[in-house]
Amino acid sequence: MELIDGKKIGTEIKREIAEQVKKMIDADERPPHLAAILVGNDPASETYVTSKGKACKEVGFDSSTYKFESDITEEELLETVEFLNNDPEIDGFIVQLPLPDHIDENKVIQAISPEKDVDGFHPVNVGRMTIGLPAYVSATPNGIMELIKRSGIETEGENCVVLGRSNIVGRPVSILMSRTTNPGNATVTVCHSRTKNLKEITSKADILIVAIGKPEFVTADMVKEGAIVIDVGIHRVESSETKSGFRLKGDVKYDEVAPKCSFITPVPGGVGPMTIVSLLMNTLKARKKEIYS
Ligand code: GUN
Repeated sequence: MELIDGKKIGTEIKREIAEQVKKMIDADERPPHLAAILVGNDPASETYVTSKGKACKEVGFDSSTYKFESDITEEELLETVEFLNNDPEIDGFIVQLPLPDHIDENKVIQAISPEKDVDGFHPVNVGRMTIGLPAYVSATPNGIMELIKRSGIETEGENCVVLGRSNIVGRPVSILMSRTTNPGNATVTVCHSRTKNLKEITSKADILIVAIGKPEFVTADMVKEGAIVIDVGIHRVESSETKSGFRLKGDVKYDEVAPKCSFITPVPGGVGPMTIVSLLMNTLKARKKEIYS
């Protein structure tokens, strides 16, 4: 069994990005600039945005945060989106989700210029990704594809089962794995909460991508001997074994599944570290106008 070390791969990619930024600066060009809009005081959202700022600094990007109280009106938020759409110094920006209930998330996402949508959430980017045009691919699916590629895993013709059909992970990764790219060219099955005979399907998977959002949902009897398992879940569950009283668990029952696998992502340290790195990759592409030239 080989561990897919997301932390190590993420550090490698950050080093590559930093080298490219250094070249830009040596050539008297400005570095990439990522902005984030943060609404309210949700601790998880604040942590995400702080981590994004730190990661930008590590690779030499400029970053800025536009912070608002949770009572900001939809109109004011849309004005800020429009302001960032038109600021030539900002290469890409994200609106941290979730937004307060009185704001229509879809309306806000659709107001972001696709050229600056480094989260890859805008329908234009999702559509372009689906038909194989250059597009910003959202952070987690992009991170998964990068882990597969950099681990030298062959996906062509393989049976890939995706557990979960969310707009931000399951559905896009299922599309990426079925595209005529490398990685890709897999035979993809998407399973979800209503799937019948789930175990029968998952146990035929050469590659099993799990984004079902339930701690330790996938057990050893659901996995084929020699399978490649990508675990997207991250859950803080109570534990008597740690000082904090908590432990991070994935969607996969790691201890019993790992011995059966040829490759597996651990939790933490697998898919997680790749998400912010993917956002940096997209921001570099935005600066270089690689997607929309
Ligand atoms: N909230 C949780 N993850 C994300 C993300 O990747 N992007 C944005 N904008 N909000 C999030």
